[in-house]
Amino acid sequence: MTRRVNRRDFVLTSAAGLAAAAATPRTLFGQGPTMMTPRSVKPIVVSSANGHRFKNGGTKTCVETAFEGIVRGDDVLDSLIAGVNIVELDPEDTSVGYGGLPNADGVVQLDSCCMHGPKKQAGGVACLEGVRTPSRVAKAVMEQTDHHLIVGKGAQDFARNMGFTIEADLNTDRSRQIWLEWKRRTDPEHYLDPRKREEVERKVMREMIEEGLVDENHLYGTINCDGISPKGEICGVTTTSGLAWKIPGRVGDSPILGAGLYVDGAVGAAGSTGRGEANLYNLCSFMIVEGMRRGLAPKDAGMEALRRIQANTVEKRLLNGRGLPNFGINFYVINARGEHAGVGMYSNDRLKFAVCDENGARLEPIEPLLPGNPED
Ligand code: GLY
Repeated sequence: MTRRVNRRDFVLTSAAGLAAAAATPRTLFGQGPTMMTPRSVKPIVVSSANGHRFKNGGTKTCVETAFEGIVRGDDVLDSLIAGVNIVELDPEDTSVGYGGLPNADGVVQLDSCCMHGPKKQAGGVACLEGVRTPSRVAKAVMEQTDHHLIVGKGAQDFARNMGFTIEADLNTDRSRQIWLEWKRRTDPEHYLDPRKREEVERKVMREMIEEGLVDENHLYGTINCDGISPKGEICGVTTTSGLAWKIPGRVGDSPILGAGLYVDGAVGAAGSTGRGEANLYNLCSFMIVEGMRRGLAPKDAGMEALRRIQANTVEKRLLNGRGLPNFGINFYVINARGEHAGVGMYSNDRLKFAVCDENGARLEPIEPLLPGNPED
C-alpha cells in the first residue's frame, strides 16, 4: 500500500535528499512537488537598504527587529511588519510612510501589501492617505476582509473603521520643502507643454539628486522586507510612498501581488524597489518565485526577471544612450532553504540591500544585470 506524503512534511535529512531536491524536474508553473521545505532552516531577513539604515530614534533597524522577532518565535509577518514600521514612522526616510515624498499635488499617498506564506493569505492598500503605517492596514485587509486590495478613499474609510488614526497630512517639513522646491523648478508658470514638461522634470530630478536634495534611491523609494523562520515559514511585506511627485492616484508595483511582492510558503519570496511600471508590466516577483519553483537559485531567478524587463523595455524614452533601460529596479529574494540574493538592473558602490541572519545585520552589494549607470 502506498502512502501519500505531504510535501510540507517531507524532511530533508541527508545530502542525498538535497541532491534529489535539486534534481526535481523543471516544469513551468508546475503543480507537482517542486521545492521541498526543510523543517529546520537558517532563518534570515532581507530588505532594501533602508531596512538597515533607519531606527526612528530607537536602537534597532528594520531587519534587526524582524530577525529578533522571528527567532523569538513571533509570527513571521508580524515580525516583518514591526520592522518596516520603523522605516514607515521615521521622518528621516522620505520614501515610505510618514514623511514619504508626496504626489504632484503635495499629498502623501501610500501603497503596501503583505503575504503570509503558511496561511496563504494576502492583503494590500493603495493610494491610502492619512495613515502612517500602510503595512498595518494591508495586514488588516488580509485578516479582516475577504479581499486582497482596497484603494483610495475606501482604504482610508476601512482604516478608520479598523481604529487607525487618520491624519490630515503625512508630510514632514522636510518632505514638504522638497516638494515645494520641485514645484518651483518644474512649474514656474503653471503650464508647460507636456513634452517640455517631461524634459524639465527629468532635468530637475537629475539636478535635485546631484545637489543632494533627493536620494536617487528614493524617487521610487520603497521598502520590501522578506523573512523565513527556523520552521521554514516565509512571509513578506512591501510598503512605499511610491514615485515622488507622481500624478495623484498613480499606483506602482508595491501593493500589487505578484509585482511588488510575491510569497509562496513552499518556495520562497521576492519583492521589489525601483521603477514600478517596469515591474507591473512583467510581474517579476511572481516570475522570480516561479523561477525558484523550477529550481533556479535566488540570484538566477532574479536575473531572469531583470532580463525579461530589459527585453520588454523598447520605448525610446525609457532607453539610455547605449539602448539599455534608463531606470533602476531591484529585487530582494529568499528561498525555502534560507538562501538569499539582492539583484538590480544596475548597481554601484552605494546600492546595497540589507540582510540579517545568525551573523548579524549588514548591507550587501546588489548584484547588477547591466554594467554602468542607468543614465549613461
Ligand atoms: N516601486 C515603487 C513604485 O514604483 O511605486
